[in-house]
Amino acid sequence: MPEPNSMPPARNSRIRNASLRRPEGRTRTAKIATTASAPEEQPKTLAELNRAISAARPFVPGAMHAVLGEGPAGAAIAFVGEQPGDQEDLQGRPFVGPAGQLLNRAMSEAGIDRNRSYLTNAVKHFKFVQRGKHRIHQKPTAGEIRHYRWWLDKELALVRPRLIVALGATAVLALAGKSVPIARFRGEADFAGRRGYITVHPSFLLRIPERDAKRRAYDEFVADLRAIRALAGSSVARQASTR
Ligand code: URA
Repeated sequence: MPEPNSMPPARNSRIRNASLRRPEGRTRTAKIATTASAPEEQPKTLAELNRAISAARPFVPGAMHAVLGEGPAGAAIAFVGEQPGDQEDLQGRPFVGPAGQLLNRAMSEAGIDRNRSYLTNAVKHFKFVQRGKHRIHQKPTAGEIRHYRWWLDKELALVRPRLIVALGATAVLALAGKSVPIARFRGEADFAGRRGYITVHPSFLLRIPERDAKRRAYDEFVADLRAIRALAGSSVARQASTR
């Protein structure tokens, strides 16, 4: 697998602790292995970081270019997904395909302004296999997620959100350094000292075949987003329409 050209191989690993709060309020400690592959030049701004990410060769097979995070530095909420999909790769923006559209709708129902939020992914390149005309999404491995962690960590340090939302298992693994069952840990979390929230990935909702179950899962997702909005404060709210 190729190494990104802007990042030397990992020189050392640090183990950090993160406590993941259970729904009923108890906490437990998870070990986190952070790959600290810091380049010589530490990016001091999001623009510098994004230049480094864009210049790097993909670590996952298939991808042509990086899909960068989107949104203002200083956003109250940062949403972290898994990796860009087919549409995101084509358009070069996160969450613009079917999962992104569902996320937009749910955010809007919960009163969260997407334009005032930060959206990014644990893995910055679309991983896929070609089947005929279609590019079929492949889940990133734990090693690939670990490889991209330095970037995600730096990105969140530069955005400085009040709340980091992990959308699904890959994001949780990237942020907490450990696989945890979403159903059990859904809700408030602590990602190595950063205030967080764990919920499902919108593509999980798209895959539910049965209509009522899908509706219930969607409503629960919107309820999570309302809780996220309340935790992050009023600055995330959509501007009231004047019409
Ligand atoms: N799924 C993700 O996790 N991220 C995107 O940007 C799009 C779909």
